[in-house]
Amino acid sequence: MQYARRMIIIVDFGSQYTQLIARRVRELNVYCETVPWNAVPDGQAASECAGYILSGGPASVNDVHAPSLPPSVLASGMPILGICYGMQWLATALGGRVSEGVCREYGPSQLVVLEDSPLFADFPTTFSVWMSHGDCVEQLPPNFVPLARTIAIPVAAIGDHGRRLFGVQFHPEVAHTAWGKELLRNFVYHICGCRGSWSSDEILAETVAAIQARVGNERALCAVSGGLDSTVAAVLTYKAIGERAMCVFVDHGLLRQGEAEHVLSSLRALLRMPVIGIDASNSFLAALRGITDPEQKRRAIGELFIRTFEAEADKLGGIPFLVQGTLYSDIIESAPPLGNSAKRTLAATIKSHHNVGGLPSDMKFKLVEPLNRLFKNEARRLGRLLGLPDEIVERHPFPGPGLAIRCLGEVTKDRLETLRKADAIVVDDLKASGLYCETALAFAVLLPVRSVGVMGDARAYGQVVAVRVVTSTDLMTADWARLPHSLLARISARITNEVPDVSRVVYDVTSKPPATIDWE
Ligand code: XMP
Repeated sequence: MQYARRMIIIVDFGSQYTQLIARRVRELNVYCETVPWNAVPDGQAASECAGYILSGGPASVNDVHAPSLPPSVLASGMPILGICYGMQWLATALGGRVSEGVCREYGPSQLVVLEDSPLFADFPTTFSVWMSHGDCVEQLPPNFVPLARTIAIPVAAIGDHGRRLFGVQFHPEVAHTAWGKELLRNFVYHICGCRGSWSSDEILAETVAAIQARVGNERALCAVSGGLDSTVAAVLTYKAIGERAMCVFVDHGLLRQGEAEHVLSSLRALLRMPVIGIDASNSFLAALRGITDPEQKRRAIGELFIRTFEAEADKLGGIPFLVQGTLYSDIIESAPPLGNSAKRTLAATIKSHHNVGGLPSDMKFKLVEPLNRLFKNEARRLGRLLGLPDEIVERHPFPGPGLAIRCLGEVTKDRLETLRKADAIVVDDLKASGLYCETALAFAVLLPVRSVGVMGDARAYGQVVAVRVVTSTDLMTADWARLPHSLLARISARITNEVPDVSRVVYDVTSKPPATIDWE
């Protein structure tokens, strides 16, 4: 989906904080996109750029194969802010020198501002910053001045005000850096001249226009699941092309308790557009038979979804477009590793989201993904603006592959039934405690192991259920929810009492990273 706007391009040199930079810029209502260092756009895409932010990264600029940018970036005359490795690259590319490993700083440090600069406008002269580096700039390039230092390094920020080129050794994007958000605001507003117009109203208008441009006079099938993303995508498509949009809800038999019936009736009432329901549960169960590998499960589900939609599109006389509620985060985590032709980001493939990496290569549909540049919180804001009810806007996300990726090991009807019962208890009790809206996801996972227990004075060798409840703003990072012990105790007691064959419940206390939210 293309937007007619000037944006900040964030160049990813491989830092763990790159997506955080993107989030911070968007929190300033400025549109930005992240691109890998070896796929920086030129031509039309570059002409929409109002400035570059270069991320940090694990390499040393002095390495033979150190990541570098094409000359067009420096030649563009656009403002650049280099962060950590980004600053070191900028310094080296322009004739300065970086020394290796002599000035390590990890964690908090105190910055002392040396020079007036629009980057530090209205800042105190000293404040705390977050550092994570082993190399540092030793010799400045011509025309640059040092803007700040710390106790450990004399050059902690640099600038060439004439050419609007800046570098900071610290990380303004992390919460531990005081004045970090203000620094990014100074850069994007005052140095790059962005207007801060990336508001929900604008996103909505632009997205509708982009759908119209893409679909033209054709028809589009909207894949809906009852979740926020696909509902927002469908409503936007309806706004864009009216009755040429039709919704299809596929019940793959991997939904939660009572969900299939509820979703279909509530979507029909809500969307006021036709929603076709298809019960494909037997085909999905058959396609998953014998599969235990998580990626294989995802690919099998992604493929069958598309085949089911294709069959429906044929029945309806041939519909060329399929609308999906894919988010930016789905694409980042599903990204193929570098070297694949679809260069999307530097990130490794974490899991193939069914609607991204799980799609069959010979798919007939042309995809429309109106939300593919939005984070979850932005999709939620759009949902509110569209007047969707809290039940949908506040609803926890549910993965497209459904319970298949929470039923570790083989997916069978019986195991799904066990998982459904345990899952319903987790969600019910969380809702009853009033904590549902304070958490991002809450669910049960059925483990592929058995454990010894004692039930009714007899030995039990029952199944194990893990309970996973997390807090998160955008699903890119998450923390395990510190639920009251009394609530955990109740959930555990209910599961072992009410779900046949389960004799042990464990609570997952891992954040993301290092774990992901779902187990597969
Ligand atoms: P992870 O487990 O990767 O999850 O930390 C992040 C969010 O993405 C959801 N998820 C998916 N959603 N198709 C989807 O529509 C998928 O294939 C998929 N895989 C993970 C997950 O439930 C969580 O909300």
